[in-house]
Amino acid sequence: MSLQVKVLISAEEIARRVQELGQQISQDYQGQDLMIIGILKGAVVFLSDLIRHITVPLELDFMAISSYGEATETSGVVQLLKDLDRPIEGQHVLIVEDIIDSGLTLSYLYQLLQSRNPASLKTAVLLDKPERRRTVFIPDYIGFSIPDKFVIGYGLDYNHKHRELPYVGVLEH
Ligand code: IMP
Ligand code: MG
Repeated sequence: MSLQVKVLISAEEIARRVQELGQQISQDYQGQDLMIIGILKGAVVFLSDLIRHITVPLELDFMAISSYGEATETSGVVQLLKDLDRPIEGQHVLIVEDIIDSGLTLSYLYQLLQSRNPASLKTAVLLDKPERRRTVFIPDYIGFSIPDKFVIGYGLDYNHKHRELPYVGVLEH
């Protein structure tokens, strides 16, 4: 089966925007240490490019959650598959996620991490699908707002595949 993908955001556009976000984050956290929490697996590509544009000292940790199963629509049920390795109390924490869609995943993670008393808690997403929100949640850093289309690439998958594409694209069936 051949794969038909329409490029929505090119690798060059992504690189430029990720650099801007890194510079913005570096300014905002000037003089502070940062704990970056990547949400596995989708955020891994975005995170690894983003941190190379951040100039304040930082540490990394990861969480894994699942809300979709094999479907392309959220089930609304968020399951914690992997928790952080260490406590975040008193730290400046930035959650890095690939995309906010319904908002249920980030709302859940935000509440969970807030309950652990970080010094501050913010969120960064590469992509935002504002039309699909089912809860009020506005990330602090947003790479691109996109229309209500299922996208793949640059870390995002469809049925566990296509994360390696260097651009963000729409699958055409
Ligand atoms: P939310 O809880 O509905 O905001 O969903 C967030 C999660 O759904 C993300 O971490 C992605 O894993 C997944 N997701 C949402 N939209 C897409 C998409 O268009 N492509 C790939 N994954 C998506
Ligand atoms: Mg995800």
